[in-house]
Amino acid sequence: MKTKRREFGILYTGETASLYVMRTDSMIVTVTDYGATIASILLPGPRGSWDDVVLGFSTLAGYAGTHPYLGATVGRYANRIAAGRFTLDGKEYVLACNDGMNHLHGGRRGFDKVLWESEAWEDRKSVNVRFSHRSPDGDQGYPGNLDVRVTFSLSSENSLAIAYEARSDAATPVNLTNHSYFNLKGEGDGTILDHEVQLFCPKYLPADNGLIPTGELKDVAATPFDFTARKPIRRDLTAAGGGYDHCFVIDRESGVSTEEVLCAEVLEPESGRILRVKTTMPAVQFYTGNFLDGLEGKRGSSYGKHAGFCLETQYFPDSPNRAEFPSCVLRPGEVYRHATTYSFGF
Ligand code: GLA
Repeated sequence: MKTKRREFGILYTGETASLYVMRTDSMIVTVTDYGATIASILLPGPRGSWDDVVLGFSTLAGYAGTHPYLGATVGRYANRIAAGRFTLDGKEYVLACNDGMNHLHGGRRGFDKVLWESEAWEDRKSVNVRFSHRSPDGDQGYPGNLDVRVTFSLSSENSLAIAYEARSDAATPVNLTNHSYFNLKGEGDGTILDHEVQLFCPKYLPADNGLIPTGELKDVAATPFDFTARKPIRRDLTAAGGGYDHCFVIDRESGVSTEEVLCAEVLEPESGRILRVKTTMPAVQFYTGNFLDGLEGKRGSSYGKHAGFCLETQYFPDSPNRAEFPSCVLRPGEVYRHATTYSFGF
């Protein structure tokens, strides 16, 4: 097991971005300090060839350009905050709006668009890369200086663990996630519609046309959103409006748990690959790449609609405006902690 750093490129600011190659005998993961982003996940295939199972770019320029958060760490707030406004402790805050009228994934310059500090080390169990970033008071409209750390740990059990930590000197909403798009056949190899998905989620959040939850927590039973038994993504896709982009509520008491629980299992039938997702967060956004429309990816790949799916573990969208949702507010003296693990097998 080892980690190697190499230069990834020079940003328009003159800063140098790095690429860290984390390697075990059976898996290679690369992460870059630009956006604390997962750039590739290489797995051996059933016939000995290796496949990269996440969408992305071969160059820094791809990540530094405009793209829908491929592999990035998303924050301060993953997903949407309605009209980019919320009231906290009696004060109204106005955020940068970058998704029509709403605030999405941290605003115009979210955590996906900054160069993070980094350190790498190895221990007995894993190879690790930690990214750190200070989001200053007022960043994108949010209150408080927020110090964030995201640690990627690759173990020999084919697991990529992500540990998030944040501290603030003023109360602020925090909701961090990773926005990897998976295709377990290999990136660029057609759509993910035949992947079979199981979500350990008895409820989901219906959303309005702007993808803001209506507030209802609806049973998935007898709806196209029922993934409690494994089924191909395409089976109820049309009935679900042509794609999934919904928050699924994990089967546990609301709020953040200290233990990670299994929230999703995905099988790709051709290769036999399986992805398992465990998390401490109360929900997972299941997104089927509905907005992808021919983005140029790695080594000539083109990412059309449904070229990848995301499983973004997180608080519920628009929580700052919904007292009835689990609270995403971090206060001075507290530590935001979130752990999510992606494990791969057959
Ligand atoms: C998330 C959202 C989607 C979309 C993508 C990025 O998954 O839920 O609606 O904004 O990010 O394109």
